Amino acid sequence: MAEKTDVVIIGAGAAGMMCAIEAGKRGRRVLVIDHARAPGEKIRISGGGRCNFTNIHAEPRNFLSQNPHFCKSALARYTPRNFLGLVERHGIAWHEKTLGQLFCDHSAKDIIAMLLKEMRDAGAELRLMTEVSSVEKTATGFRVSTSGGPVDAASLVIATGGKSIPKMGATGFAYRIAELFGLRVVETRPGLVPLTLDPQSLAAHEGMPGVAVEVVARHGKTEFREAMLFTHRGLSGPAILQISSFWREGDEITLHLQPDVDLAALLAAARKENGRQAVQTVLSEHMPRKLAQLLVSQSDVDGPLAEVAGRKIEMLADHVRRWRIRPAGSEGYRTAEVTLGGVDTDELDSRTMAAKSVPGLHFIGEAVDVTGWLGGYNFQWAWASGHAAGQAV
Ligand code: FDA
Repeated sequence: MAEKTDVVIIGAGAAGMMCAIEAGKRGRRVLVIDHARAPGEKIRISGGGRCNFTNIHAEPRNFLSQNPHFCKSALARYTPRNFLGLVERHGIAWHEKTLGQLFCDHSAKDIIAMLLKEMRDAGAELRLMTEVSSVEKTATGFRVSTSGGPVDAASLVIATGGKSIPKMGATGFAYRIAELFGLRVVETRPGLVPLTLDPQSLAAHEGMPGVAVEVVARHGKTEFREAMLFTHRGLSGPAILQISSFWREGDEITLHLQPDVDLAALLAAARKENGRQAVQTVLSEHMPRKLAQLLVSQSDVDGPLAEVAGRKIEMLADHVRRWRIRPAGSEGYRTAEVTLGGVDTDELDSRTMAAKSVPGLHFIGEAVDVTGWLGGYNFQWAWASGHAAGQAV
């Protein structure tokens, strides 16, 4: 005999727990299944352990998807203010770090404890360390076969996230279920991920790992002004993670290494003042010494300013404005914060997150082809899409 419930949610991450809360509050019997030992593991490690739980400025333009309109409905019905209200009702202290990014003062675990309490209050049951072996459509809904036995439910919600960080249990399960039911999946790739450089470029950047600088990173018309970090494998830091979601193999990105300084004017003024100073000395006053060294050697402008041709200074200034990099690749799902692509939004109803062709089957969170920028947007999508499905199941 199969156990019976109204809603089965597979995945006790951000989206699945929010969906369970909303469905439970509506009086639905909810069972949440997860193969992990603990719920919300990505919440726990997020934001350096403090969880950047939303972004107060979140808007549809902060999300990548083949259909940029799809996310609008869910985001409008559950906003960053709604989530912040929940956080405040639970007395969790928070602060804005930068660019609208809200973090817990103490620990990301506060967010998990809050969601678990809300789930309990809503009567939703959580079953951990439970494997799902198969999912079938039945006359009245779905049968989910688990390591704890079969469960029948009228509604099934897939909230198993994407492929990023496989060592934390990411499986690509959602895409297999989508394909099982004949739903298209937009090709997936790692997003918000450090980019790697070829051995030749790495050799040219010897001594740079650990150097951080604020840059404007550009890919086509997209640009982000944030910090960048040189690493032993290539480039990282928020500016690079942001642009990585737009970058494709073979593409070039450009970096403005001194967005606040008109370098040509600065060097011209410095030459007038004291032509004996070396270019590198002047540059080092405005950027890390190692970066100044690298730029001087790449632009061949070593020596006292008075002896450097104006044309060469222009070239150096241009080099700093448009530092071109052709990454060899990315660090992949091993370190990617998110998975781009996923269940094709054309297959889903944007109000309910239900598959148009399979009544009762919903996909939420990172599994769907909606991916946020870095900065709390991905959790906001998890809360909003979980809320939308929770109102409908
Ligand atoms: P999520 O991945 O959270 O949950 C999926 C759940 O399904 C997991 O509990 C998993 O165990 C379970 N599962 C998977 N396969 C299963 C199977 N076959 N059977 C049963 N259960 C299964 N975002 C943000 O907005 N602010 C931030 O600060 C950060 N920081 C951050 C840091 C790091 C290191 C990473 C990797 C990611 C972030 N993110 C982030 C992104 C954010 O964590 C992510 O977008 C959300 O967790 C997605 O929520 P979901 O609920 O969709 O999936």
